[in-house]
Amino acid sequence: MSVEPQGAALPPAIAVRGVRRVYDAKPNRVTALAGVDLEVAPGEFFGLLGPNGAGKTTLIKILTTLLLPTSGEARIFGFDVVEETRRIRRIMNMVAGGEQSGYGILTVREQLWMFSQFYGLATGEGWARVDELIEAVGLGDQRLQRVSTLSTGQRQKMNMARGLLNDPWILFLDEPTLGLDVAAARSIRELVLDWKAAVPGRTVLLTTHYMAEADELCDRIAIVDHGRILAIGTPDELKRRVQRESIFRLELDHLDGGAETLARLPGVESAALAADVDAAAQRVVVNLVLTDDAALGAVVTALGGTGSQILALRKSEPTLEDVFVELVGRGFGDESDGDVDGADGDAGGPDREPAPAEAA
Ligand SMILES: Nc1ncnc2c1ncn2[C@@H]1O[C@H](COP(=O)(O)OP(=O)(O)O)[C@@H](O)[C@H]1O
Ligand SMILES: [Mg+2]
Repeated sequence: MSVEPQGAALPPAIAVRGVRRVYDAKPNRVTALAGVDLEVAPGEFFGLLGPNGAGKTTLIKILTTLLLPTSGEARIFGFDVVEETRRIRRIMNMVAGGEQSGYGILTVREQLWMFSQFYGLATGEGWARVDELIEAVGLGDQRLQRVSTLSTGQRQKMNMARGLLNDPWILFLDEPTLGLDVAAARSIRELVLDWKAAVPGRTVLLTTHYMAEADELCDRIAIVDHGRILAIGTPDELKRRVQRESIFRLELDHLDGGAETLARLPGVESAALAADVDAAAQRVVVNLVLTDDAALGAVVTALGGTGSQILALRKSEPTLEDVFVELVGRGFGDESDGDVDGADGDAGGPDREPAPAEAA
């Protein structure tokens, strides 16, 4: 079997230098990655956090040897993604959210065994590994059930088992909890954490547009937008960037003119709609970043003038969302209206804005 990663003696799990990727799309070329540099150590749980269209899937596809970079260089545990694809495929695996892989008429057990054969496991070894993983992901009761009859959460557990069949050193997870309910999402997160903790050196690269998920799981996070990394750090380091301001969460019955009306007021650094609020909810939630608490007076006065009713107001500790708003000047919720659960890429909209000037 494969040698397990040993930590310090190994090259970086991920080393990316100057990677650009341009798609020759129809009316206009799309620059999905505009020069990315990144290094992830063996054993890290690393997150790429960014809105739809930021370039997360493009980077994962390049790192998993499914897509060539237009320029730049990337290595996985020292192996070049262009030249050494076979070696890389042996030590990594990928699981994406909303994955429909496989054949509905097969049972969970048959389906996984089929994949074990794709990964080159010997017959007996394949069955043993499949049964072990079925238990590990909690699908014991569904092992003889047809794949087509699984719930979304169960299917994603099966995909996770598929992703662990070849005993990878590094696991790429592209929005692994996309579209899952809270309980299913939690069990996927626990599964990943347990798998990673079992052997030192196991590495995870996760992409997500759920900030709380990145915050909970990741040792370090890169915030990405429009194909660029805007900031990298531990969740605490990133949050400390906005600690100096006063941050409030403001709930209103309605807000004419949107969050921009508030952003223009004196003392308001930024105002953005919260991404974690259901669009159908009968309230508007705005994250406000103020130069200091005193600026709140102007906000309350302005709201009184427009007839908005304040339902709740509370001072909040900075979240990754505040960090994103400060870096990008808008919230996650402001761009991808109504299509937060959309599939990869196509939700980004046709016309890409150039990256903002404050990109670090
Ligand atoms: N095959 C493709 N052809 C043309 N444009 C693409 C293709 N795949 C992705 N894009 C574009 O590249 C950008 C980045 O997409 P993607 O990497 O899927 O972002 P993310 O995963 O962060 O949502 C988006 O603007 C998207 O529309
Ligand atoms: Mg994506």
